[in-house]
Amino acid sequence: MFVPSDVAVLAGDGIALPSTSRQLPSDGRILQACGNEFKRSFNLHPFKFNHTLHQSGLFEIPRIVELAKRMIEKNGDFCALNFRHGTIGRKFGDGTDDTKLSAVQQSEQLDETVSRLGENCTWIKLVGVQNYDAEYAEVLNAITCELESLSDFPLRKDMTWVTMTLLLSSPNITTPFHIDHETNFLFQVQGSKDVCLFPATDRELVPDQEIERYYSGDFSAAFYRQEMQDRGTVFRLAPGEVVHHPSLAPHWVKNGDNISVSISINYCMKSLEKRARVYQANYFLRKMGLKPVPPGLSPLRDSLKRKVISTMEHRNPTTFSEVVHAPVTRLKSPLIAIRRLVKR
Ligand SMILES: [Fe+2]
Repeated sequence: MFVPSDVAVLAGDGIALPSTSRQLPSDGRILQACGNEFKRSFNLHPFKFNHTLHQSGLFEIPRIVELAKRMIEKNGDFCALNFRHGTIGRKFGDGTDDTKLSAVQQSEQLDETVSRLGENCTWIKLVGVQNYDAEYAEVLNAITCELESLSDFPLRKDMTWVTMTLLLSSPNITTPFHIDHETNFLFQVQGSKDVCLFPATDRELVPDQEIERYYSGDFSAAFYRQEMQDRGTVFRLAPGEVVHHPSLAPHWVKNGDNISVSISINYCMKSLEKRARVYQANYFLRKMGLKPVPPGLSPLRDSLKRKVISTMEHRNPTTFSEVVHAPVTRLKSPLIAIRRLVKR
């Protein structure tokens, strides 16, 4: 199990919450939300509430650029896509072509890319920023505690992985329809955007087969069906607003006619991985020509499938991929799978 060190500290019994930064509001609360709606809808239905991070001064573009430069130096998970020059204009820190460039060259490109964000078709994503900036780690800790209190759900006990991602995008950039395993909170800091969220449980909209393919590693498995667009709800996000995405709730995002800065906080949780293991088992059963029962309909079958697939789990996962996809990756590699099964 991997959680950033500051969050891990919070998981201990009786340990006081960390003091919040001086740049955060004096009462220390970041989230302003209705507790009843949280308890009713957390991880079931999308809903909007308010936050104060846009007033904190912590998420201004110059500060984010400095953070990105540190991430480049440390080969962090940083990605910049330019849609005008093909699908991928830049990609740093993930082993692709541009990692051949020196950190200095990448930093210069980053400055250029960010200074032209308003006129470019660019989307910049900085993943796991809490690992590169102590104040961001502090914010993540505070938000996690507040979410737990608002939802009455033992989030720190259930979570297996958490990350804070910063998203910078040019005017009118669109993120296509997709699903995510994690429970997500999208905070708007600068500019506005529309987030269209669909019901997480609608299997006409996203059939089980597509979710199985998603859990086998195909991140674009969910197919957009224009004729079902009216099943979605569009949330217009302005600075100071957050929208909650339940796990597997399909969504698309369209940036307004402005530069946008957003913070995405994602949680993997044991309860979500339990369901994922059933989908992963069903992926292989369907490959064998069977018609597997979807999760939730037969506790006995779910339990058996989970038991088999769980034998392939990563024992000490440190990345999203290791938390969620390790069993499939291993089962697709027959030699590893046979060795592990024989050992049991
Ligand atoms: Fe998403």
